Amino acid sequence: MRVETRGQLPGELTAEAAAVAAKADDAARNGDPATAAGLLEGVLRKIKAAGGDVSVWVSRPATEHDQMAALAGLTPGRDIYQMRRPLPADDPPAGFVTRPFRVDRDEEAWLRVNNRAFAGHHEQSRWDLETLRRRMSEPWFDTNGFLLHEHDGHLAGFNWTKIHRDSDPPLGEIYVIGVDPEFSGLGLGRALALAGLQWLSRQGIGVGMLYVDATNEPALNMYRSLGFTIDHVDRGYYGEGAVP
Ligand SMILES: CC(C)(COP(=O)(O)OP(=O)(O)OC[C@H]1O[C@@H](n2cnc3c(N)ncnc32)[C@H](O)[C@@H]1OP(=O)(O)O)[C@@H](O)C(=O)NCCC(=O)NCCS
Repeated sequence: MRVETRGQLPGELTAEAAAVAAKADDAARNGDPATAAGLLEGVLRKIKAAGGDVSVWVSRPATEHDQMAALAGLTPGRDIYQMRRPLPADDPPAGFVTRPFRVDRDEEAWLRVNNRAFAGHHEQSRWDLETLRRRMSEPWFDTNGFLLHEHDGHLAGFNWTKIHRDSDPPLGEIYVIGVDPEFSGLGLGRALALAGLQWLSRQGIGVGMLYVDATNEPALNMYRSLGFTIDHVDRGYYGEGAVP
């Protein structure tokens, strides 16, 4: 269980929230939602007083987590599915071409397509150059796993993958996938997903993985038809002011 905040908080309050979240999670999993809620309430109050919007995320939630959240005044928010499938998957269609992202050249086109594809989505919409550069500076970033597909010289869609070598088993994630709405429903998403899975498989990865919002019907349909199944649910609960 983790407590997230949007505002900047003092370091000690962030640390306290992490420690309290671990204790509250234990209490909920031990069948004691009232104690879990009591633990949470104190730190949520402090975070609110410090000006932060709070959300609480639980991986593999039990009924007691729902009860804990209700007692602590949190609103059940979103369910995120983690889906997986074994690799290799089918090859992408013959003749389907992708190329790696080029740093310092593709940012503007990528931001445009990403923000069009994800318009109305939660975290992934309205990215700016700084957000993109921050993600690209992370240690796992590899341009070869960031696949772009063009149509008539213009970016039409992309599949940005991420390898988690330290997880057991190692996982190959479809980290962000999107198709420009101008080209949706034409099979590009499916082909891009397969191209990314093929790349991950060629890196020696045996399990494909992704996170998808439980309400994202187009993506869920696509992933199911590609053979992904739900591995587990992550549930977000929102404090006042944090409901998206
Ligand atoms: C999800 C997304 C990548 C699909 O791309 P696409 O090119 O439109 O999809 P495809 O044409 O390849 O269709 C693949 C499958 O997706 C499903 N699908 C696509 N659009 C759909 C829609 N509007 N409603 C329901 N299902 C849909 C279908 O099951 C389809 O299966 P089919 O091949 O049997 O018809 C695209 O809708 C997108 O960019 N969405 C916004 C970004 C996003 O949500 N990314 C995933 C985040 S986890």
